[in-house]
Parts: sequence; C-alpha cells; structure tokens
Amino acid sequence: MGKKKYQKIQEKILEAGVQAPSSCNQQMYYFILIENNFIKKALEERAKFKWLDRIPNPIFVICDKRYGNERFANLQGASASIQNMILFAYSINIGSCWIAGYGDKAIVKEILNIPSYFHILGCIGFGYPDEKPLKPLKRDIKEISFVDRTNFPKDGSNNPDKWEFKEINNLAERAIFAKSPDIGYYSLFDSQFKNEIRFLSNKIGEKNLVVYDVSGIYSIELAKKNNAKRFTILITGEKIKLWLEERIKLLQLKNITCEKGLIETHKGEYDCILHLEILNRIPKKNHEIIIKESKRLIRKEGRIISSFLNKKSVYGVLFKKGIGRRYGPEISRTEKEIKEIYQKMDLKIKEEIGFNILPSFRLFFKTGIPGRYTFLNRYLRYLSKYNLLEKTISKNWPLKSISTNIFLIIKK
Ligand SMILES: Cc1cc2nc3c(=O)[nH]c(=O)nc-3n(C[C@H](O)[C@H](O)[C@H](O)COP(=O)(O)O)c2cc1C
Repeated sequence: MGKKKYQKIQEKILEAGVQAPSSCNQQMYYFILIENNFIKKALEERAKFKWLDRIPNPIFVICDKRYGNERFANLQGASASIQNMILFAYSINIGSCWIAGYGDKAIVKEILNIPSYFHILGCIGFGYPDEKPLKPLKRDIKEISFVDRTNFPKDGSNNPDKWEFKEINNLAERAIFAKSPDIGYYSLFDSQFKNEIRFLSNKIGEKNLVVYDVSGIYSIELAKKNNAKRFTILITGEKIKLWLEERIKLLQLKNITCEKGLIETHKGEYDCILHLEILNRIPKKNHEIIIKESKRLIRKEGRIISSFLNKKSVYGVLFKKGIGRRYGPEISRTEKEIKEIYQKMDLKIKEEIGFNILPSFRLFFKTGIPGRYTFLNRYLRYLSKYNLLEKTISKNWPLKSISTNIFLIIKK
C-alpha cells in the first residue's frame, strides 16, 4: 500500500485512539509514530527490540506520569486508547500487536527523546496480517469472577510450592499459546543453551521422554539435532499440545510426538527421561510422584537427566524468591535438596555438570532485575557488551556449585 494511503488510515486509527475514555478527560497520553529507518535500526540494535522488521508502522504510546497518576488512572486512559485503536483497526481488516517487550526501556527513552516523567505503555504494530494465528486461549469467566468478595489467600506467594500444579500449568499454557508457533520461543541464554544441547545430545538414548517440558524449547532443539533418535514430550495441557504440534509440523520434525497426560498414567519404556528445570516450577509435593513414575518408565540401564536452576548461582539468588520468569511461578533450588529427592527414591547420581557462571546480561534488557535489585540494571546493561562467563562448563567444585544450571545424570 502507498505511504499516503496508509497515512490516511493511520490518522483514522489515531482518531479512534483519542476517542477513548480517560480520567477527568485529561488524555495525558501521546503517540510516537516511528518512520525514520535510522531510528528503527537504533531500536533494533541498541534497545534490542526484537522482530521490528515484522512491524512496518510501529507506534509507541507514552503517558505523562505527572498528572492523573493516582490509582494508575493515566495508565488506564492510555491503555483504553490503545484498545480503541486496535479494535478500530480490526474493523477495517488491519491486524495489530500490542507490544510491551520492546527491548530496553531506558535506551528506548533515550532514542525517542522521551523524558523521565513519562511512562512507556508499549508499542503497537499495525499492518495487514500475513498469518492466521491460533485462537488465543481465554480463561473461563467463572474462573475469574467473584460475587461480592474474593477468596484469594492473604499472602500471594510466587513460590510454586504454594501453588497447585494445575494452576501453574494453566498459567504457563496461556503464556505459551500467546506466541506464534511460527516464531516459537527463543532462549535468552544463547551460549548456555547451545552447550546444554550439545551435552544432552551425547547423553540421551534412542527413545527419550521429556517430562513436562512446558515450552518445548529443549525437546524441539534436541529432536532437530538428533534426527535418528525418538522423543516424546509429555505435557499436561491440551492447548500446549496443539501449539507444540503446530510448531513440530512447521519444522517438519518426524522424530518427536506430544502426549497429553500425567506421568502417573503414562505407559512406555525409555532409555532416557529428561526432567528439564521442572523441579524449579513444579510444587515440592508433586516431585516424588514424578520421580517415582520416571523410575518406573526407564529401562534397567536407562537414565534420568535432571537440570535445575541453582539457588547458589547469581541468577538463582536473584530469582530465589520464586519470581516467575515467562511461565509463572518458579523458584531456584539448591543442589543438596534436588539430589536428596532422587536419592530418597533409591536413585544414584552418576555425573554432575554446571553450565554458565554468570547469566546472560542480555536477559536484563528484556525484563530488568526485579524488586530491590533494580539499581543493578544499569551495570548489567554495560556488562551485556561482554560475554562474561556465559559459556562456562564446570565439572568440579567450586565452580560447578555456583553455575546457573546444573545437570545431573541419574541411574537406578
Ligand atoms: C500489555 C500488553 C503487552 C503485550 N506485549 C506483547 C509483546 O511484547 N509481544 C507480543 O508479541 N505480544 C504482546 N502482547 C499481545 C498478547 O500476546 C496478546 O494480546 C495475547 O496473546 C492475547 O491475544 P489476543 O489479543 O489476540 O486475544 C501484549 C498485550 C498486552 C495487552
């Protein structure tokens, strides 16, 4: 479509935005239309705004923090304007994506010359859709509505041990399903991930079961790299199954299948069972059953490979309180507690290896360090220029014990 024609349409979209309700009709929000290619490039390269090449006409929405800030009223008004624009665009067959993951906030502010007294609400991409995404998973209104009073627990904990496995899965399922299977998920720990995949490729068997690999990142990469070996992913949600199958189909992988169900009822015999970071995001009370049933499902000479986010690593310390990453509640655990769970079930730890001493600082472009550690973000941003200790592989104490992810090879 010609630029002039799009500008006309864009004007109409913005007009729909400004018709939105706002607190005291203050309308303290502003739109920044990104047109200059140098600015786009800077957003991509410096702020690490991913997939910007898929957004022809990005619009940032910002709002003034100085007015109407009580009860987030200014944010609500600005959000309503975004929703208005999106709905109007939809009515004229224009697709959109509301993006909060636009990269590093401070760098975006600098590039777009946004003073500190503004919030960035997000960036919206508009355009004619070139894909038909899976229908997003929406919650049952019965699950989210209360009559008169809520019944939430007093202390809302991020610790998965205080959640039900089913609730954690439901949250993860919604988050996974929000992504296009076309893009999949990318790992924020590039070099660590590559090293782990290489290690796993040498350790897996002919027939492998990946237990509750919620996003399929590892399973799919392993299946890609080891096409003579077979993989089954066991998952608990219908929608995750659908999403993974769609992705597997797109990648034309013939050696991997998904099965929905609980490990208790799963049948089969495997050379290798993988517990990849699951003990970090599954409540403690469910650990034993997973391990007991895994033991049942491996051959006599088979092995379990377990990996976990280590509480004694830098990343583990930052996330020790169970601040959820992408898929909801998650907590780092100590080597001692993880080993004990397996040993209690008469399993033997045969090999241990640690990956990555310092987490990828690029990670903090995405989220920033949470809570009281936010002051560290600016140092991390600086450090992200360097690949400091991201590629480390440690087999021995003391370095292994402070690695981000520890892998254990376990046998009967
Ligand atoms: C505040 C907010 C932030 C979002 N951030 C992103 C984002 O960074 N990247 C993205 O691809 N989608 C983003 N989305 C879009 C959601 O993924 C999408 O709304 C959700 O999957 C539900 O799909 P639906 O809007 O089609 O119902 C965001 C949506 C909202 C409301």
